[in-house]
Amino acid sequence: MEKNIKEDSVKSFAKKDFWEKEFVSDNKEGLEKSWDNSVYANRKLHLLLKKYLPKGKNYKILEVGCYPGSKLIFFKKNFDYSIYGVEFVKKACIKTRDNLEKFNVKGKIICSDFFNESFLKKYKLKFDIILDFGFCEHFKNFNEIIKNYSDLLRKRGYLIIIMPNFGGLYKLFASKELIRLHNLNIMNLKTIEQVTSRYFKKLFCKYVGGMYTDSSEESNIGMLIKNKSLRNFFLFLFICLNKIMNYIPIMESKILSPYIVYFGQKIALCNNHFAST
Ligand SMILES: C[S@@+](CC[C@H](N)C(=O)[O-])C[C@H]1O[C@@H](n2cnc3c(N)ncnc32)[C@H](O)[C@@H]1O
Repeated sequence: MEKNIKEDSVKSFAKKDFWEKEFVSDNKEGLEKSWDNSVYANRKLHLLLKKYLPKGKNYKILEVGCYPGSKLIFFKKNFDYSIYGVEFVKKACIKTRDNLEKFNVKGKIICSDFFNESFLKKYKLKFDIILDFGFCEHFKNFNEIIKNYSDLLRKRGYLIIIMPNFGGLYKLFASKELIRLHNLNIMNLKTIEQVTSRYFKKLFCKYVGGMYTDSSEESNIGMLIKNKSLRNFFLFLFICLNKIMNYIPIMESKILSPYIVYFGQKIALCNNHFAST
């Protein structure tokens, strides 16, 4: 374990060697397409971000667990933010830097464990926006993570959390292995609202996106079905289903939506002296 990390940070469901294996072999081509407007949930997310966030290069954004950098590229192109990311897999840091360069995005990728005390101290009160897209739900210590976010943000800074919703239909498509990597206890609006309310004023907290089925090769179904023809059949079916659902964005709900989305703004007088749990 890295020096300077509190014992609490080991409460992760996905250890570093998992991420190392997961990402080092992967080439993530077509970054610009990975969060594009062709999917209803993405369109909705982009609209929400535009509604709640300010624009301009004076604002500094930090993405926590930032590989491959597609979200940072999006924020540079659409919000013109100063770009920062923190990521603890060395090769993923290098690839993220390459990816930013490919898209002519200047940014600082900090190669550190998010829980490293030197990192937390150095960047205290340095950011205006923190993006957690698929990070906090891999840990048991949600409270501590939220406190760290508050510490890193300036007064009235924004926190964005986007996590998969395994509390509904999506869970059916997920393999046991994938579920095991996630903290399902925080995948509900009440817990997120409760924990964040100590440091943040809620701007938005809802289930987002109509029914959506991951149709990529690396999707749960893609990984679960070993027979190639059967897998291709299902993936094709899902592509068709997603295309239809793109035009019929039906009820966003705990059962159907693929994402849980939270936006909050740091409480102006928050002195961060609350006891962490
Ligand atoms: C599910 S991925 C999300 C990637 C990215 N946010 C996105 O949306 O494409 C989680 C990322 O967090 C990184 N990560 C996990 N634990 C970390 C830690 N303690 N410190 C820094 N990065 C970490 C992993 O290496 C991985 O790149």
